[in-house]
Amino acid sequence: MQIRYLGHSAFEITDGKTVVLVDPFLTGNPKAAVTADELEATDILITHGHEDHVGDAVAISKRTGAPVTSMTEVARELGEEGIEFHDPNLGGTVTYDWGTVKLVPAWHTSTTAKGTVNTPSGLLITIGGVTVYHLGDTALFSDMALVGRRTPIDVALICIGGHYTMDRHDAAVAAGLIGAATVIPCHYNTFPPIETDVMAFKSDVEADTASEVVVLDPGETYSR
Ligand code: NI
Ligand code: MN
Repeated sequence: MQIRYLGHSAFEITDGKTVVLVDPFLTGNPKAAVTADELEATDILITHGHEDHVGDAVAISKRTGAPVTSMTEVARELGEEGIEFHDPNLGGTVTYDWGTVKLVPAWHTSTTAKGTVNTPSGLLITIGGVTVYHLGDTALFSDMALVGRRTPIDVALICIGGHYTMDRHDAAVAAGLIGAATVIPCHYNTFPPIETDVMAFKSDVEADTASEVVVLDPGETYSR
C-alpha cells in the first residue's frame, strides 16, 4: 500500500492495482506535485465541497471514468456534470471491489462553488487491509477518539495548518485521541494563512503519543 502526497489535502492511495484519489485539488494549488492530467484513478473521494478539496475531481472523473464518492449533496451536484457518483451520508459505508469508505464527522463548514451547502466529513478508507483516516478539514473534537476506538487506524492524514482548520497544537492532541500507528500531516504551507512548523508538530506528537509522524513533501510517497 502506498500513499503519495500530492500537496494541500490531496493524496493518491494505491494497493498496486486500485488508485484512489482524495481531494484532488491540483489546478490553482501552488504546492501541487502533479497536474490533474498526469493522474490515473479508480475512485475519487472528496471530504467536502470547498474548492480546495473538490479541485479537479470532475475533469479527472470524466477522463478516467472513476466515480466520485462524497457527502450526498456534493456527490449529487457533481453528478449533474454527467459523472458517476456514490452519495453516502455521515455514518454510511460504501463498499467497492477494492475496500470500503465510511463517512465520519468533521467540524467545519462547506458550500460548493455553485452555492450548495453541505456537511463536511472525514473519510475512513480501508484498502489492502490498511485503514486510512483522512480527517478532511476540521477543528479538534473529542469524538475523534471514538472513531479510532471503533476502527483501529493505521494511517491518519491530519490537517495542521490552522486558520481554516485546527492548528498544529490542536492537531497534536487529535493525533493522541486517534491513536494511529502513523500520522501524515497535510493542509499546511499551501497559502500564507496556513503556514506552520511541521517539524514542531512531528516532535510534539512523537513526544506525547505512540504515533510516528511521517512528513511528506508534495510528490513523496509513504509505503507500508
Ligand atoms: Ni474546507
Ligand atoms: Mn480546506
